[in-house]
Amino acid sequence: MTFAKLRRDFLAFFEKRGHKIVPSSSLMPTDPSVLFTSAGMQQFKPYYLGEKSPYGLNVATCQKCFRTSDIEEVGDESHLTFLEMLGNFSFGGYFKKEAIKLAFELVNSTFQIPKSKMTITVFGGDKEVPEDKESAEIWKKLGIPEEKIKKCGREDNFWGPTGEEGPCGPTTEIHINGIEVWNLVFNEFYQNKNKKLTPLEQKGVDTGMGLERLAMVAQNKPSVFETDLFEPFIRELPETNIKARRIIADHIRGSVFLISEGILPSNVEQGYILRRILRRTIRYGKLLNLVKQFLIPLAQRVIEIYKDIYPELKSKEADILTVIQNEEEKFEKTLEIGIKQFGKVALRGAISGKDAFHLFDTYGFPLELTQELAKEKGIKVDTEGFKAAFEKHREISRAGVEKKFGGVGKGATIEAAKLHTATHLLHAALREVLGEHVQQMGSDITSQRLRFDFSHPVKMTQEQVKKVEDLVNQKIREDLEVKKEETDYQTAVKSGALAFFKDKYPGKVTVYSIRGFSKEICAGPHAKKTGELSHFRIIKEESSGSGVRRIRAILK
Ligand code: SER
Repeated sequence: MTFAKLRRDFLAFFEKRGHKIVPSSSLMPTDPSVLFTSAGMQQFKPYYLGEKSPYGLNVATCQKCFRTSDIEEVGDESHLTFLEMLGNFSFGGYFKKEAIKLAFELVNSTFQIPKSKMTITVFGGDKEVPEDKESAEIWKKLGIPEEKIKKCGREDNFWGPTGEEGPCGPTTEIHINGIEVWNLVFNEFYQNKNKKLTPLEQKGVDTGMGLERLAMVAQNKPSVFETDLFEPFIRELPETNIKARRIIADHIRGSVFLISEGILPSNVEQGYILRRILRRTIRYGKLLNLVKQFLIPLAQRVIEIYKDIYPELKSKEADILTVIQNEEEKFEKTLEIGIKQFGKVALRGAISGKDAFHLFDTYGFPLELTQELAKEKGIKVDTEGFKAAFEKHREISRAGVEKKFGGVGKGATIEAAKLHTATHLLHAALREVLGEHVQQMGSDITSQRLRFDFSHPVKMTQEQVKKVEDLVNQKIREDLEVKKEETDYQTAVKSGALAFFKDKYPGKVTVYSIRGFSKEICAGPHAKKTGELSHFRIIKEESSGSGVRRIRAILK
C-alpha cells in the first residue's frame, strides 16, 4: 500500500465515521512556548478546554510536524525530525471505547494488519493517576490476549501537554512488529505551569500515528527509509554509511518543509534549527564523499514526492532551492578549515568553551555540531564555558558600541540609544508588514545611521518600504515608553520577547519593550520614550546575500 493511499484511506475512514477533515496547520505554532508544531492536537488545544470547536466534536487530520527532540535519534529505523501525523480527535464526542474500537478496526480491517503482529501498552498507574483498567478491558474484548497488553508508567504511557500547560492524559499505544505506531491519548487532565494536574470537565481524545511508521509496517520494510516516502531519493545516496545516509535523507526533507514555511537559516529560534540540520547534512555529505551542491537534486526529489499534497512546495521551489544552495555555499567555504581547526583543538583532549565559541563564531559550527564531532572522538565539550564565552562576546560588543560613541561625547551616545530604539521599532514593523518570518540577521549602528539585516526572500516593494516607515513614525508620534526589565532568558522568551540564539543565554537578560508593539532581549542602551526619535527615514533597501535584505535608515 503506497503512503499516498494510506494517508487517503485514513482520512476517508474517519470522514465516513462522522469526522470533519481539517487541513494541517502550519509548522510554526501560535504557542510561543514551543518552536514548532510537534503534534496534531496543537491546533485544537482550546477545544479540549471547553471552547466551541467550529469543526464539530470529531475531527481528523494529517498534520505536518517537526520534532527537535528527536534530532539525535535520527539514523535508526524509525525516528524522524519532520513527519506527517495522522490523527483523529474528539472534544467530548466519544472516549476510550469508541476511540480504541475505531483504531483497531482501521489497523486490522482496513490496513489488514493481523492481531498477531500487534502489542498494546496501557497506563499502569502511579501516585497521581490510577491505572487505566478500562482500556485494557476494551482491548481484551477486541480479542487481544492479556499477555500482549503491557502496563507502562508515566514515561511511556502518559502524554502532554505541549508547551507550558494544557490538556494531557494517559495513553494506550499500538505497537506493530515492535514499532510504536499509534498513540491514543485520553485527555482527562489539565496540567498547569507548576505541573499540577486537575481533572478536565470534558474528556477528550487525541490520537497520533506517524504516516512514515505506518508505511513502514504496512509495506513490511525494515525501516521508514525503505518505504516509498524515502526510497525515491535515498537511493541516490551511497550505502557506505547507513546512518549518514538516513540523516541526510531526513534532514533534507525537514529543511524543505521548514523553508516552505518561510523559515530561513539564522542564529535564532526556528532559523537556528534549520541551519543546524542543513549544516549537519552538509557535514554528513562530506563523510559520504558527495559532490558539492548535492543537496539541490535531493531537495527537488522531496518536492516531487510531496507536491500534490503540499502544493506550496512546488510554488516556492525556487526560493527553497536558493536558500539551500546559499547555505551550502556559505558553509562549504568554512567547513573544511573548521574541521581542521576542530582537529587541532581536539588534540588537547577536550574542547574548551572558548574553542567551541571560536568554532561557532568563525566557522559557523552550531554548538551541536562541535558536540557531535567531539562525541565521535570520545572527548567532552565545555558547554557552560561556551555559554560564558558567548555572553562575554556580547558584553564586549556592547562595550564596543559604548566606546565608539563615548569618544565623541555624550550627544553621540544619546543618538546611538535612539538608533537602537529605532532598530527595535523597525524590526517590529518589518514583522508586522512582511510577516513573522522576518528575523534579525545583523545590525550595526554608527552615530549617523542604523543598518539592519533581516531574513526575507525577495526585494521589498516601494509600498512595503513606505508602510514600514509610516508604522515606525506612527509609534514615534505615539511617544511610547521604552520599558526596561531584567529577567531570566526562559521567562523573557515565553513572554514573547525576540531573542538572538534561542536557549543559549545563561543568567539574567535585559528585555526592552514598547507597549503592544515590540519586545526584545537586548543589551541597550535605549531612548526613554519613542518620541525622542523625532522622525524615521529609510534611505536604502537592498540585498545582503540571498534570503537576506539590508535596510539603512536615519533619524532626523
Ligand atoms: N498528541 C499525541 C502525540 O503526538 C497523539 O496525537 O503522540
